[in-house]
Amino acid sequence: MARWTEKDIPPLAGRTAVVTGANSGLGFHTTSQLAAHGANVVMASRDTAKASAAADEIRRQASDAKLEVAELDLANLESVRRFADTYTASHEGLDILINNAGVMAIPHRRTADGFEMQLGTNHLGHFALTGLLLPSLLARPDARVVTVSSGAARTGRINFDDLQSERKYRRWAAYGQSKLANQLFMLELDRLARLRHIDLVSVGAHPGYAATNLQAVGPNMEGRAWMTRLTALGNRLIAQPASQGALPQLYAATAPDVVGGEYFGPDGLFNQRGYPTRVPTVRKALDRDVARRLWQVSEELTGVRYALLDAAVA
Ligand SMILES: NC(=O)c1ccc[n+]([C@@H]2O[C@H](COP(=O)([O-])OP(=O)(O)OC[C@H]3O[C@@H](n4cnc5c(N)ncnc54)[C@H](OP(=O)(O)O)[C@@H]3O)[C@@H](O)[C@H]2O)c1
Repeated sequence: MARWTEKDIPPLAGRTAVVTGANSGLGFHTTSQLAAHGANVVMASRDTAKASAAADEIRRQASDAKLEVAELDLANLESVRRFADTYTASHEGLDILINNAGVMAIPHRRTADGFEMQLGTNHLGHFALTGLLLPSLLARPDARVVTVSSGAARTGRINFDDLQSERKYRRWAAYGQSKLANQLFMLELDRLARLRHIDLVSVGAHPGYAATNLQAVGPNMEGRAWMTRLTALGNRLIAQPASQGALPQLYAATAPDVVGGEYFGPDGLFNQRGYPTRVPTVRKALDRDVARRLWQVSEELTGVRYALLDAAVA
């Protein structure tokens, strides 16, 4: 896959994709490239005005882009259910789901359902979404679920004793936990699909360090202007462009040689920038006991059971 770029994306006409957090950063560039290659893309966003503006921007480059805007707040399970119900009622299946949206190192907040915000948004919201969209995914051959993680997974630990950081909240530890959860989820979904002989490809990707809004959200929430300026400087001087950061997830979503359980990131120094390549997940993500336990807890917390995966084993 030497120097794979968006030019290498195969034709996607007839395929439908859902991209979470499609209005900004990596989600925006992923949407724009999937649409440029003919896919119908549902831009799932918590702010439909922002998503409509992003869709207009994409259409200015490609007037025939097939884009839909739909409301999805991953920090609210009712919204996740509403999105999945509406999607399922109005589409005949789903070829590509990109679990991309995320928040990083924000001050302590809770989701509508009382989960710690980073775990709730980055992992539990996507866990529920994927489970609810599973019938749509299984209606299409070779459907793919791409879950976006981060190098921060390396610092993560699934703290089952205090999963929601009720006793102690440390913003980076909570981010690391949520991004490790993304990798554990991606691998467990792949394992279950294989075990049940289900035609579903679950893969992961990370962008390295890409210039997006991600780094500024936390400082903005707290009004720490100097930190916002510092992150802007880092984005300008060190990060790679968001369009480049989106390549690993685009590869994972579209390249023909991708198989379930693989993980993609940039090929450059410390996997922080460059072109997509296969990279190992963190070692901790390979712990099957933790993966199974997290899956079980996630089903209990969200009330979303992956019944089709259960049924397939009977
Ligand atoms: N940029 C990097 O260097 C980097 C590195 C490693 C991993 N990542 C991962 O890449 C993914 C994309 O982030 P990004 O860098 O593109 O950042 P971004 O520009 O801030 O985009 C994040 C997107 O997620 C959305 N979002 C946040 N909370 C949401 C919620 N409750 N419901 C629905 N959508 C929500 C945001 O919506 P709003 O616009 O409304 O806020 C935005 O559209 C994240 O999973 C992040 O962890 C990024």
